[in-house]
Formats: sequence, C-alpha cells, structure tokens
Amino acid sequence: MCGIVGYIGKRDTAPLLLEGLQRLEYRGYDSAGLAVHSSGSSGGLKSAKTKGRVRDLEERLPKRFSGTVGIAHTRWATHGAPNDVNAHPHLDPDEQVAVVHNGIVDNAAELRAKLTADGVTLVSDTDTEVFSHLIARSEADTLEAKVQEALRHIEGTYGIAVLHAAFPDRIVVARNGSPVVLGIGEKEMFVASDVAALVSHTRQVVTLDDGEMATIKAGDYRTYTTEGSRTSTSPETVEWAAESYDMGGHDTYMHKEIAEQADAVDRVLAGRIDDRFATVHLGGLNLDAREARTMRRVKILGCGSAYHAGMIGAQMIEELARVPADAEPASEFRYRNPVVDPDTLYIAVSQSGETYDTLAAVQELKRKGARVLGVVNVVGSAIARETDGGVYVHAGPEVCVVSTKCFTNTAVAFALLALHLGRIRDLSVADGKRILAGLRQLPEQIDRVMREEAAIEKLAADYATAKSMMFVGRVRGYPVAREASLKLKEVSYIHAEAYPASELKHGPLALIEPAVPTVAVLPDDELLDKNRATLEEIKARSGRILAVAHMEQEKADHTIVVPKNEPELDPVLMGIPLQLLAYHTALALGRDIDKPRNLAKSVTVE
Ligand code: AGP
Repeated sequence: MCGIVGYIGKRDTAPLLLEGLQRLEYRGYDSAGLAVHSSGSSGGLKSAKTKGRVRDLEERLPKRFSGTVGIAHTRWATHGAPNDVNAHPHLDPDEQVAVVHNGIVDNAAELRAKLTADGVTLVSDTDTEVFSHLIARSEADTLEAKVQEALRHIEGTYGIAVLHAAFPDRIVVARNGSPVVLGIGEKEMFVASDVAALVSHTRQVVTLDDGEMATIKAGDYRTYTTEGSRTSTSPETVEWAAESYDMGGHDTYMHKEIAEQADAVDRVLAGRIDDRFATVHLGGLNLDAREARTMRRVKILGCGSAYHAGMIGAQMIEELARVPADAEPASEFRYRNPVVDPDTLYIAVSQSGETYDTLAAVQELKRKGARVLGVVNVVGSAIARETDGGVYVHAGPEVCVVSTKCFTNTAVAFALLALHLGRIRDLSVADGKRILAGLRQLPEQIDRVMREEAAIEKLAADYATAKSMMFVGRVRGYPVAREASLKLKEVSYIHAEAYPASELKHGPLALIEPAVPTVAVLPDDELLDKNRATLEEIKARSGRILAVAHMEQEKADHTIVVPKNEPELDPVLMGIPLQLLAYHTALALGRDIDKPRNLAKSVTVE
C-alpha cells in the first residue's frame, strides 16, 4: 500500500507534504516524491522524486520549491522496481499533468502498448504512468472531465490525486478500491490515503466511496461520481487525536503499541459490559436476538493477523455460543467461488478496514446476498462501511506494520461478541459472569506480562541466532502459535512456521534439531497433559523448547509464565510475551522494526 498526500491553500505546500509523507511512511517506503504548482513567474509544475525514504527526498529537494498546491507519494512497489524513475508522481512529457496513485491498473500492459503505438514514450516501468499520459492527451475542457475520460480506460483499483498546470486552483482526486480521504481546513484543504496524514491539521474528514471523485480548492470541495453526478458525502470527525499517532517516547511504534495494550483493552471494554444480564452491549452490531438464535454457522474472514484473531474468535464463539464457527483467509475465500449459505453469519476482520482481499471477499458475499458483519479498527473504513454492522475494536491508530495491539483488541472484541451471542443462546448467567470477570482482569494481567519484558529480552538474544523456529499449540494454543510465528517472520526475518501440536509427529518433527528451537503454547486447560507429551517428543530429538504457560514446564529449556485467566480468554494473554519475543529478537538483529522489508501496513492491492 502506498501513501498519498495533497494540499491546497495559502501555506507553502512542500513542508506540509513532507510532514504528511512522514506520517504515512509506514504504508510504503521504497521511494517518495512530490509535485507542486510553482508559484514563480514560470508557473507550471515542479516535481522531485527519489528512491529511498522521505528523508532522502527532503535532502534532495531543490532549495526553491515553493507553491501552495501540491501532491506527494510514498511508494510500496507493485509494478516496476523501486528507483527514481518509477517513484511517483508521474508526469507527461510536457510536464502539464502530475499523478500520484495507489492501487493496480490491471490493463496497464494493454494501455502502455496503445500509448506506445500512438507515439508516446513511456519512461517508467509502472502502471501509474498511464494516468498522466491519458489525462494529458484528453481534449476535454475541464480537469474533472479529463480525469473522467482517462478513468474510463482504466481497469483495476486506484486512489489518485492529479495536478494540472492549466488548473492551478484545484486538485482532482478519485477512488476505486484504494482509500482517499479529504481533510477540511480553514480556507485550505488536504487529501490523503489515511487520516494519519491529516489529523495534525484537521479532524473533519470526508471519506470517498469507490467510484467517487472530488475537486478540492483552497476553501471548498465538491464530490461527484466518475460519471459526473453530484454526491453529498458528509464530513465525519476523526476518532483519534493527532498525538495518538506519535511515538510517545518509545523507540519504535511497535514497542509503543505493545506497551499500550492494557489501555487499548480498557477501550474495547469501555461502556459495553452489562452486569445486570451478565452480557455485553454491542451498539452498531445490527444483529437482532432472533437472528442470533437462528443462525446455524459463523464464518470469519481476514488476512494475516486479522485472520489469526479470527481463529481465536471462532473458538470463542464455538465455546460460548455453541454454534459452529471457523476462520478462513479472506484471500483464499474470495477466489474459490464460495457457496454462500443464507443461515451463516459472515464476519470480516480488519485493522485498517481497507485490505483489498478482505474487502473483495465482503463484496463477493454481499453480491450473493450474505449477511456480513465487520470487526474493524478504523472507523468509517471501507470494510466498516461495506458490512451490515459490527464491532469496532477501538485499539487506537496502529501505525506499525507489525500488528500487535489491534490483534489483541480484536481477540477481545471477539470475546465480547461470543459472550453476547452466547447469552442470547444458551450460555448460563454463571458462565456470563465468569467471562465478564475474566475480561475485567485482562488489563491488569497484561501489565503483569509487560513486567516480564527484561527477561524476554534476554531470551530473545538466545533465539536470535536460530536459522528457523517452530511454533506449536493445540486448539486454544494453535492460533497463538500461528500469530507468534507471523510476528517473528515479519519483523526479524527469521524463518518460522506454526503447526497444530498434534501434527508435529506427522512430518514436521523431522525438522526438529538443536538449531531449530520450538516455541510451545501450553494453556493450563484440559489438554495440558497432551501438550506436555509434545514437549517430550521434541526433547527426545534434542530440540530446544521455549514454553509459554501458566506454570514452569520442567521439560522446557525456558518457560515464560503468564497469568491464568478463564480458559476461553487465555489465548489473549499468551500471545503478548511472544510479541515481545519477536520485537527483541528483531532488535538484537538490528532490523528496521517499524518498516520491515517488503511489507506495508495496509495491503489495498491484490
Ligand atoms: C500483521 O502483523 C501484518 N502486518 C498483516 O498480516 C496484517 O494483519 C494483514 O495485512 C491484515 O491487515 P488488516 O487487519 O488491516 O486487514
């Protein structure tokens, strides 16, 4: 996912654009660039772009780069290697049009061939460059019409911002599948692909829908469809203040977001607990009691950590609501022509609410008449708007590519949903009270886990030399193992894989040796003896073991002991020490923790 920023107003735009890019750099960071309407006598557009980070762009920016209208971009390469030429913005040869783009033009090759056949010289390997040529070659009278004409050739996804030398009083933007948000200021306007770039200037935002465009001027904006009919998307107030996007004195966003999980869990619980009926209120869920009683199955869809949180959610729903539930990667579901069952409740899970694979799965389900709810962090995001209702996880802005606090809050949000469904169905008052008591303990117990950080940091130094790591767990422990394995991979680059503990003997045991340590997740539940037998299997092959458990495990080389909660809620806590393990392992290896290679925070492309 790339980052887009734009500004039009009275202030010098370059510093504002660079500040916005810095806010978005977690979304994509292999190259960056900007273009402004020059306020000098020469008029026209000026642009600068470079491979590398935003700070490299700042260093290379020519001294005289003034102007009050501009657009900027940080890139996460999809078409064309990260280099200066492929960086955005892309301009036509006469430098009349500048375009920045998030998304993928599916018919880029065909359009590039047509343009080449028409005598156009394409200078980059990107799909985006086609926008600048199509807009520049349009003979329509207005910039809006030129962009609309160009979009008629495009197949695929886009969030774009366009400058034109002949129209210095406006920026035109359009959205189809990649987020575009307008920020409303005092006689100035902003545009971005994420509110993170806007909140330090305004919290009044307008989120465009797919198929929607906007013209933004210094003190005005209007929205309309790509066919030109007016729309009236009303402004919303961003939930999170600017300072919640700051690093708050931590060295990395990842560490900040791990450390603030107790407060984040307080937020997802706030105002939702109903002691009178031993249940929870979930305003906005939009699922009435009759439906909750008659649904015959729950299918949870998400990607990456959202999928893993969905696995935990499926177990909680099965245990508390006694309705069959399972989780599946949204990216798989959408491509297998799924049989949609009218008696199944579908739940889409997403931190950003913009993950294209998950959004596309939701759209496929809606097209087939399914009932789809969302468990989402970003209020007003595409998935939140596309689903019929749902539960916001209130984790606060999660900036780090590596999801931690939102994963935990999503798991707790599922506990709330499972309790809500359970108490509508057959869960007893006593069990409802038991779960509520467990939920209330979580923040303090998370704080207790965080107090083990120094010990976990020492362990991380041990494991940082591993060439590969195995993560195992049974039933409640397995999703925890899956998520911990992903954490380690994406931030330390150590190969890791997770297996159901019972599966180890069916093949993966062949991998066990001293150089391949195993992290075993052992909740103190009815499977503890089985899990201890797995430790024996590993030890018998001289495998090293790090156990995460509720008491010391004599068969393990090291044990991280976490506080015991209710069995259904234990997975929430058992993942947190493994977030710290991944973090400190990556630190020991000198990784760029907040900008892991090859990754982006919100993958709004296929
Ligand atoms: C999490 O650590 C990863 N960065 C990634 O797997 C992420 O969870 C996934 O891309 C889904 O993102 P979403 O929650 O915004 O939909």
